[in-house]
Amino acid sequence: MILIDGKETAAEIKLEIAAEVRKIIDGGGKKPHLAAVLVGTDGASESYVNYKVKDCEQVGFGSSLIRLPEETPEQELLDTVAELNKDPEIDGFIVQLPLPEHIAELKVIESIDPSKDVDGFHPVNVGRLLIGMPCFQSATPAGIVELIARYNIETSGKHCVIIGRSNIVGKPIAALLAQKRSPGNCTVTVCHSRTPNIKDLTLQADIIIAAMGYPGFLTEDMVPDGAVVIDVGTTRVKSDQTKSGFKLKGDVDFEGVAPKCSYITPVPGGIGPMTRVSLLLNTLKAAKKEVYG
Ligand code: GUN
Repeated sequence: MILIDGKETAAEIKLEIAAEVRKIIDGGGKKPHLAAVLVGTDGASESYVNYKVKDCEQVGFGSSLIRLPEETPEQELLDTVAELNKDPEIDGFIVQLPLPEHIAELKVIESIDPSKDVDGFHPVNVGRLLIGMPCFQSATPAGIVELIARYNIETSGKHCVIIGRSNIVGKPIAALLAQKRSPGNCTVTVCHSRTPNIKDLTLQADIIIAAMGYPGFLTEDMVPDGAVVIDVGTTRVKSDQTKSGFKLKGDVDFEGVAPKCSYITPVPGGIGPMTRVSLLLNTLKAAKKEVYG
């Protein structure tokens, strides 16, 4: 069994990004700049956004954090997005989700200029991803594909079973792995909460991607010998062993499943760090105008 080290791989990629930023600056260019909009004070969102800002500092990007109160009217958020769309200093930006209930999430996402949508959530980027065009790919699927590529894991002709159908992980990773390219060329099955007998399907898989946010869901009896198992779950559960009072729990019962695998990602230290680094890669692409010219 090979443990896929997302933390180490993400650290390597950060060094590559930092080297590229130095090259841009040495050539007289401006440093890439990522902005994040945070509405309200949700604990998990706060910590995700703080990590994103810290990541920017580490690779030499500029960053801005725009904090808006929980009761911000929808129109005020749309106005903030419109300003970021036209601000030439900002190469890319994200609006941290979830948003408070009185704000229509999709309306906000649709108001983002696709050429600055480094989350890859705008329908234009999602559509371009589906048909294999250059686009900003959402960070978690992009991170999974990057890890698969860097570990030289064969995907062509393999059966990939994805558990979860979210717009930001399940659906886009299904589209990416079905593309006619490498990594890709998979036969893809997408399972979800209405799929009867998920185990019958996972037992036919070469690659299993668990992305439904149900801690410990994928157990040993559901995994064939030699499978590649990618755990996207990051449920925050209470813990008295950590300073924060929380720890992250994946969708895979790691202890039981790992001995059966050819490759497996841990939680933490697997897909999470790769998701964070994908946002940096998208911001670099935005700054270099690689996607939209
Ligand atoms: N909330 C949880 N994950 C994400 C993410 O990748 N981007 C944004 N904008 N919000 C999130």
